[in-house]
Amino acid sequence: MKDNIQEVHAICKKALTDGSLSKDEILVLLNCPEEHSDIIFQTADAVRKKEVGDQVHLRGLIEFSNYCKKNCEYCGIRGKNKNIERYRLNKEEILQTALRAESLGYRSVVMQSGEDPYFTAEVLADIISTIKAHTDLAITMSAGEFTYEEYKTIKEAGADRYLLRFETSSEELYKKLHPDSEFSQRMECLHMLSDLGYQVGSGFMVGLPGETPEILADNLLLLQKLDLDMAGIGPFLPNSDTNLAGAAGGTLINSLKAVALARLLLRNAHIPATTAMGSLDPKGREKALQSGANVVMPNVTPEEFREMYQLYPNKICLRDDPAHCRKCITGKIQGLGRTVSNEHGHSLKIKKGY
Ligand code: 5AD
Ligand code: SF4
Ligand code: FES
Repeated sequence: MKDNIQEVHAICKKALTDGSLSKDEILVLLNCPEEHSDIIFQTADAVRKKEVGDQVHLRGLIEFSNYCKKNCEYCGIRGKNKNIERYRLNKEEILQTALRAESLGYRSVVMQSGEDPYFTAEVLADIISTIKAHTDLAITMSAGEFTYEEYKTIKEAGADRYLLRFETSSEELYKKLHPDSEFSQRMECLHMLSDLGYQVGSGFMVGLPGETPEILADNLLLLQKLDLDMAGIGPFLPNSDTNLAGAAGGTLINSLKAVALARLLLRNAHIPATTAMGSLDPKGREKALQSGANVVMPNVTPEEFREMYQLYPNKICLRDDPAHCRKCITGKIQGLGRTVSNEHGHSLKIKKGY
């Protein structure tokens, strides 16, 4: 065991200046005993500070539709779940939500939905260009898979960024969990987004049933290979409305290690302390912010719709209004000795001119 601890220290020391960790080195860190994992978090925190500074970027999350034509096995809003009420915000409601976010001080919003056939690329483009005409918000879309032409339409309307998690790097596990999607298509979409000039975010869940340490290490290496601008990682939280209700779910320690390793590998990417992390542990987001994360995405969806957008159980902030969350998160960030950024928080890779 002593050797292993020394190895963990040696790998962390190297990672302070060099993000080229091998799969074996990643596995040593992932497998190191919990009582010795603080060094990994501290190293990621130091790399975060050096690469992206002390500012935390906020993105206001607008969950604009919980309709979904897909049936991902883990997800509470999968199309076949008959136990939830469905809703869709109309254009005016989405615009008002965006305006509210801007008035609360957000410089950026994420528009997230299931794969809702109502929101075609044209419909989304109209909404995005309207928000752009009325605000100075950076807009991130998170609405699933489209064709190249459709992503182009959405980009040309003014979307700056796109989030599309690959969920797992194992093709076999991907197939099991996604009855109506292909891993290769997911990769294709990520390449299209990048070609079109979007700032691209992807990521995965930690602790999916069937995930092994090797798969988790490959997830992290895939993040690095994709050269992402943003990487979102959160624990899988079993939803009682799905066939995975009885599964174990991701642990806090493994999720934090994944966030920390993503920071060590991706260096200056934006990495959120995800809502799933905060739902697993009351201090989950704070712990993630101290283990490599530099972004938080507080919910700005009007309160009456929040209950209906539950991908996973025990989601935080369900009964809190957007103004409350904005204050709450600012307090938490300041409590960690960090500051809330008042910039758009664009990709640092663009600033570095690549
Ligand atoms: N637990 C945690 N995260 C989930 N997501 C979907 N369902 C769950 C769940 N049960 C995540 C997926 C998706 C993102 C929007 O939410 O990773 O990409
Ligand atoms: Fe739909 Fe996304 Fe849920 Fe899959 S994860 S069922 S695509 S909302
Ligand atoms: Fe919503 Fe704290 S961020 S209540």
